[in-house]
Amino acid sequence: MLLWSVWSAVLLLTPLEAVEVDDVRAGCSTAVNDLVYIVDGSWSVGFSDFDTAKQWLVNISSKFDISSHYTQVAVIQYSDTPRLEIPLGKHQAGSELIQAIWSIAYLGGNTQ
Ligand SMILES: *[C@@H]1O[C@H](CO)[C@@H](O)[C@H](O)[C@H]1NC(C)=O
Repeated sequence: MLLWSVWSAVLLLTPLEAVEVDDVRAGCSTAVNDLVYIVDGSWSVGFSDFDTAKQWLVNISSKFDISSHYTQVAVIQYSDTPRLEIPLGKHQAGSELIQAIWSIAYLGGNTQ
């Protein structure tokens, strides 16, 4: 089982490396990235700071070229339980992703 996992990781990495060598030289914004943000949505954060966190996600994500070719973004919010807000690669345009981040509703719940 362990051997299988290592092997499948190698198989998955090979195409990404090929893409990187071929056409990615300009830096972080056009590097191949899968970004997964995990956001605290418990009551101890508060509405105002939760909005600041969303602003931060928007600011950071705006620096990347959002597309299936370069950067894919996922967002998970958690408190008592995690909630998948944006699945990896759902949005293939920066404007669409930013709108989706802004529309994430504050979960609330216990601090974990
Ligand atoms: C987001 O970017 C704006 C413009 O650069 C900046 O004024 C603001 O402080 C940033 N906010 C966060 C939370 O990163």
